[in-house]
Amino acid sequence: MNRKFSSGKLVIASHNAGKVREIGELLAPYGVDVVSAGDLGLAEPEETGTTFVANAELKAHAAAQASGLPALADDSGLAVDGLGGDPGIYSARWAGPSKDFQAAMALVNDKLGNNPDRSGRFICALALAWPDGHCETFEGVVEGDLVWPLRGLAGFGYDPMFQPKGHAVTFGEMDPNAKHAISHRADAFRKLVAACFE
Ligand code: IMP
Repeated sequence: MNRKFSSGKLVIASHNAGKVREIGELLAPYGVDVVSAGDLGLAEPEETGTTFVANAELKAHAAAQASGLPALADDSGLAVDGLGGDPGIYSARWAGPSKDFQAAMALVNDKLGNNPDRSGRFICALALAWPDGHCETFEGVVEGDLVWPLRGLAGFGYDPMFQPKGHAVTFGEMDPNAKHAISHRADAFRKLVAACFE
């Protein structure tokens, strides 16, 4: 049995205002009142986990402990089969301090070389933790292929390189609503909502 979120305030363990707003909108129909870790002045823990789930869990636990409220955290990235799952949890770090995702995508392409296997997936882990230490985790996935040259200017991060299976366009070329319907994040949120909010 999953533990349900009863009602009231939920801390979103993120300092990214855009992400907090988006999650607030997704959960508004369930009577959830979201507040961000940034607004509460909570420190951001170091992401020392070796998996997406571990990193989401440590962020959710830290925010729940510090605030005394249930807390939701996410962690996501791109895992490429031909690179043994890299960049994986290091997806943001491959773009460097200047957040240069053109360079990060070029690095993925260079490392793949002429490997015929260009398959990969975006993964999103969500962790919902309570102050008593209980935690529920969910993982969402979207399978795809890494294309080169890059295509499309919509989206962010590795979107121009990622063509979801069964589609002829990359996430960078896709209408944002079409991406949101099939993304790893949407998959993880559907599981979270079904388990803990409905
Ligand atoms: P975070 O979970 O917000 O820290 O995101 C980790 C990194 O994964 C981002 O900086 C992006 O590089 C990459 N990433 C996660 N989700 C997506 C996506 O939907 N499109 C493109 N890149 C993504």
